[in-house]
Amino acid sequence: MCGIIGYVGKQQALPILLQGLRDLEYRGYDSAGVAVLNDGRINRVREVGKVEKLEKKIEGKNLPGRVGVAHTRWATHGGVTEFNAHPHVVAGKLAIVHNGIIENYRELKERLVMRGVKFESETDTEVLAQLIYENYDGDLTEAVIKSLLKVRGTYGILVMHADHPDRLVAARLGSPLCIGMSDLEQFVASDITAFTPYTRMVQFLKDGEVATIEQSGFKIVNLKNEAVEKNVMQIDWGKESAQKGGFEHFMLKEIFDQPIVFEDALRGRMDMKEGTAKIGGLNMTEEQMRSVNRVMIIAEGTARYAGLVGKYAFERLANLPTEVDFSSEFRYRDPVVDKSTLVLLLSQSGETADTLMALREAKRKGAIVRGIVNVVGSTIAREAGAGTYIHAGAELAVASTKAYTNMIAVLLLYALQFGRLKHTSLATGQRILQSLLEIPEKMNEILKQNDEIKNVAKQYKKYRNILFMGRGVNYPVALEGALKLKEISYIHCEGFAGGEMKHGPLALVSKDVPVVAILTKNQLYEKMKNSIAEVRARGARTLIIATEQDTEASEVADDIIYVPKTMELLEPLLNTIPLQLFAYHIAVALERDVDRPRNLAKSVTVE
Ligand code: AGP
Repeated sequence: MCGIIGYVGKQQALPILLQGLRDLEYRGYDSAGVAVLNDGRINRVREVGKVEKLEKKIEGKNLPGRVGVAHTRWATHGGVTEFNAHPHVVAGKLAIVHNGIIENYRELKERLVMRGVKFESETDTEVLAQLIYENYDGDLTEAVIKSLLKVRGTYGILVMHADHPDRLVAARLGSPLCIGMSDLEQFVASDITAFTPYTRMVQFLKDGEVATIEQSGFKIVNLKNEAVEKNVMQIDWGKESAQKGGFEHFMLKEIFDQPIVFEDALRGRMDMKEGTAKIGGLNMTEEQMRSVNRVMIIAEGTARYAGLVGKYAFERLANLPTEVDFSSEFRYRDPVVDKSTLVLLLSQSGETADTLMALREAKRKGAIVRGIVNVVGSTIAREAGAGTYIHAGAELAVASTKAYTNMIAVLLLYALQFGRLKHTSLATGQRILQSLLEIPEKMNEILKQNDEIKNVAKQYKKYRNILFMGRGVNYPVALEGALKLKEISYIHCEGFAGGEMKHGPLALVSKDVPVVAILTKNQLYEKMKNSIAEVRARGARTLIIATEQDTEASEVADDIIYVPKTMELLEPLLNTIPLQLFAYHIAVALERDVDRPRNLAKSVTVE
């Protein structure tokens, strides 16, 4: 998704803008640009490709000034060209950067063309720029509001005008924007990583808000130009948590972060004496919890696979029927939810458009809605009104890893808290909590096998198709393992339930299609072993994830990775880690752009 960074303050803007663009690169983009205002003139440079190409183009040019905007563009309307890159500048006087999609830009453009306006780009953003320019009569905030009232779609915009050398105007609807506050300087960005080196005091803009930002501070109004109260937050993420920490890629760092951040997900949320969880953000009395008669877990991608693990937990611990669905499906079907349905929205970014819309649909139908989210202050977190942060820290690699295991941790705590109001015993609850406390050390035991897993992975990089198989609570692990590998290596991968193989997928199996199978010691061990024997009988090479000290597993394995024993419900927390490393090392061996795989973005904030 696109990235925005703006600055107004006591320093020269350009170096801050360029550093911000670099910190936003992880979001995925295909062009970039900056515009700085100085002495009544806007100087702009744009370039197709990476930020370093933009920096080379700027070398030797003089872009002085203390107020400016910059952008990394992910093409939506109009091809990847310099003319379509942001910032868009009108008459050398007004500059705008924009994240989102103006859905009615064609009709707006037609009206402007009829009034003689000439366009240089194919973008929806330039239409908005021209509209604001046309509506401007000295008050930039008013011109922005007047224009936005004509717009349908989503936007996170930053506007500056040559008449106001000490001012930026920001507005958001559906595309995140936040203001970083510091002494005599203000930062505005699409996410906090662009300004955490300078400040951690952050104001998250809400949908429908417009901020007028000056060196000394900012004020916020709604689209009726009525003042809105500020809510400045102190963010505990320093830029260091968003740096690679000596690892080659963010993804590897974030895989290795898991034991540490897992503890953060549990901290303050466990009641060992009562054998239950105490989730502050759940915001429900025991009576309200008892009134819940079903659970729906709604998410996309990896978050949904965490949700599938949550399904097993809610059904086994709390005896609650639990359905898991894609956000993009839930929001368009006629979901049967009511005041007794607990709808959990899972999202690392808290900005996934489909998940946000599903949240609004569930609220509209009167369900009890809770967000389980990583990014503090994100839209889903705020619109859910209540829920739980998973505390995984900044997750910058497109491929989600630590957010997945932390989401499962939080879902297990939710299921336990509900379960202890039902049939789950004190002893079981205490055993679950104790097993959760042992997970970080067990994760470390797997991470110590990184080199061995790397050697195994290299054997598999030559394949064009790889299947993943799991049963029971490890079926979601198979799905997640397949997604991890496909999204960063571009190898075609599919995950299946082990019992499903004979119903079709077995036709895919041959010596050229290896199978990764999770065969950890649990109630489905023998069944899973039979499924593996079937694929081996057809010549498939098998990589087995097995429980340490299991001497039988090697009978059905060409390659084997051992993981420590834990309770069956907690197995995904461990079994996923070898698959994350497996995917990572294959992608590196194939020289893929591991942190920013092609065609993908870290947060899908458009449908
Ligand atoms: C996972 O590795 C992918 N990057 C993707 O499937 C992701 O999980 C999905 O887009 C949901 O994102 P969210 O958790 O930020 O809502």
